[in-house]
Amino acid sequence: MDQFLNDLPKAELHLHLEGSLEPELMFALAERNGIKLSYSSVDQLRQAYDFENLQEFLDLYYQGAAVLQTEQDFYDLTWAYIERCKAENILHIEPFFDPQTHTERGIPFITVLNGISRALTDAEVKYGISSGLIMCFLRHLSEAEAFATLEQAEPYLDKIIGIGLDSSEKGHPPAKFERVFAKAREMGLLAVAHAGEEGPAQNVTDAVDILKVDRIDHGVRAIDDPELIKRLATEKIALTVCPLSNTRLKVFDDMSQHNILKMLEQGVKVTVNSDDPAYFGGYLTANFIALEKGLGMTKEQAVQLARNSFEYSFAKPERKLELL
Ligand code: ADE
Ligand code: ZN
Repeated sequence: MDQFLNDLPKAELHLHLEGSLEPELMFALAERNGIKLSYSSVDQLRQAYDFENLQEFLDLYYQGAAVLQTEQDFYDLTWAYIERCKAENILHIEPFFDPQTHTERGIPFITVLNGISRALTDAEVKYGISSGLIMCFLRHLSEAEAFATLEQAEPYLDKIIGIGLDSSEKGHPPAKFERVFAKAREMGLLAVAHAGEEGPAQNVTDAVDILKVDRIDHGVRAIDDPELIKRLATEKIALTVCPLSNTRLKVFDDMSQHNILKMLEQGVKVTVNSDDPAYFGGYLTANFIALEKGLGMTKEQAVQLARNSFEYSFAKPERKLELL
């Protein structure tokens, strides 16, 4: 089954590039850029990846991203992820990046974007992996800062297909970004948002109604609202679910408690994703394997989940036909 899941053609729709920064690469980039890390070894750093909640993870994730300085660093980060995609038969990707994590520390927006998009172009040319890049706003920062980021992106909209919303969900509801999302949609960008990860089902409803998103990231707390579950199913609003992330951040105590297959049975268009694989102990195939081991996912269910990842991707119609 492990080999079957690895070889199953898949798309990944919820992956933070900064969350694919493996400790080994973090140490290599720290050395290259003359930065001193507060951990003495890769092992010591990995041991710190023991989280009680989303915020504990985010604190380390933002710290780790500080080693990313040059365009080549962003290229190397993205390329390392693409090599994993190649190895796991991931044919299409829609990765996230958090420009504010970098611009706040003085790294120019264009440095980040050029490094990432050069790697994505090489992925298409070298491996035939198609992609669409999604720029996320950090929801713990202000609306004005999100607007400033959108403005920075405006000259480069040929390199970005959509916007997202991530970081601390508690205390930062979707409505805070209503006007930024409206503006981005006017500019022709697609929209997604993290909602119902640690926050309530209402955040999922609000992301759909107020931000008018095309897809929801996580969304597992939607299960608390049966009417919302029915609505997500009938309106075919897909959820990008991240099983290993949810157990590592204690959204669910154990994989056996995870609700992804329950939602699949209720007709919700769920997909499997890895979120921040360097921090949560596994890439996309590992997430599928965890569902098999922890929830008894069948081959048929795995095929349906992979099919959903193509169907609810933002790939161009002609590419979607090839993928499906
Ligand atoms: N940024 C990176 N991973 C995230 C997650 N799982 N939730 C919110 N923000 C994130
Ligand atoms: Zn995420």
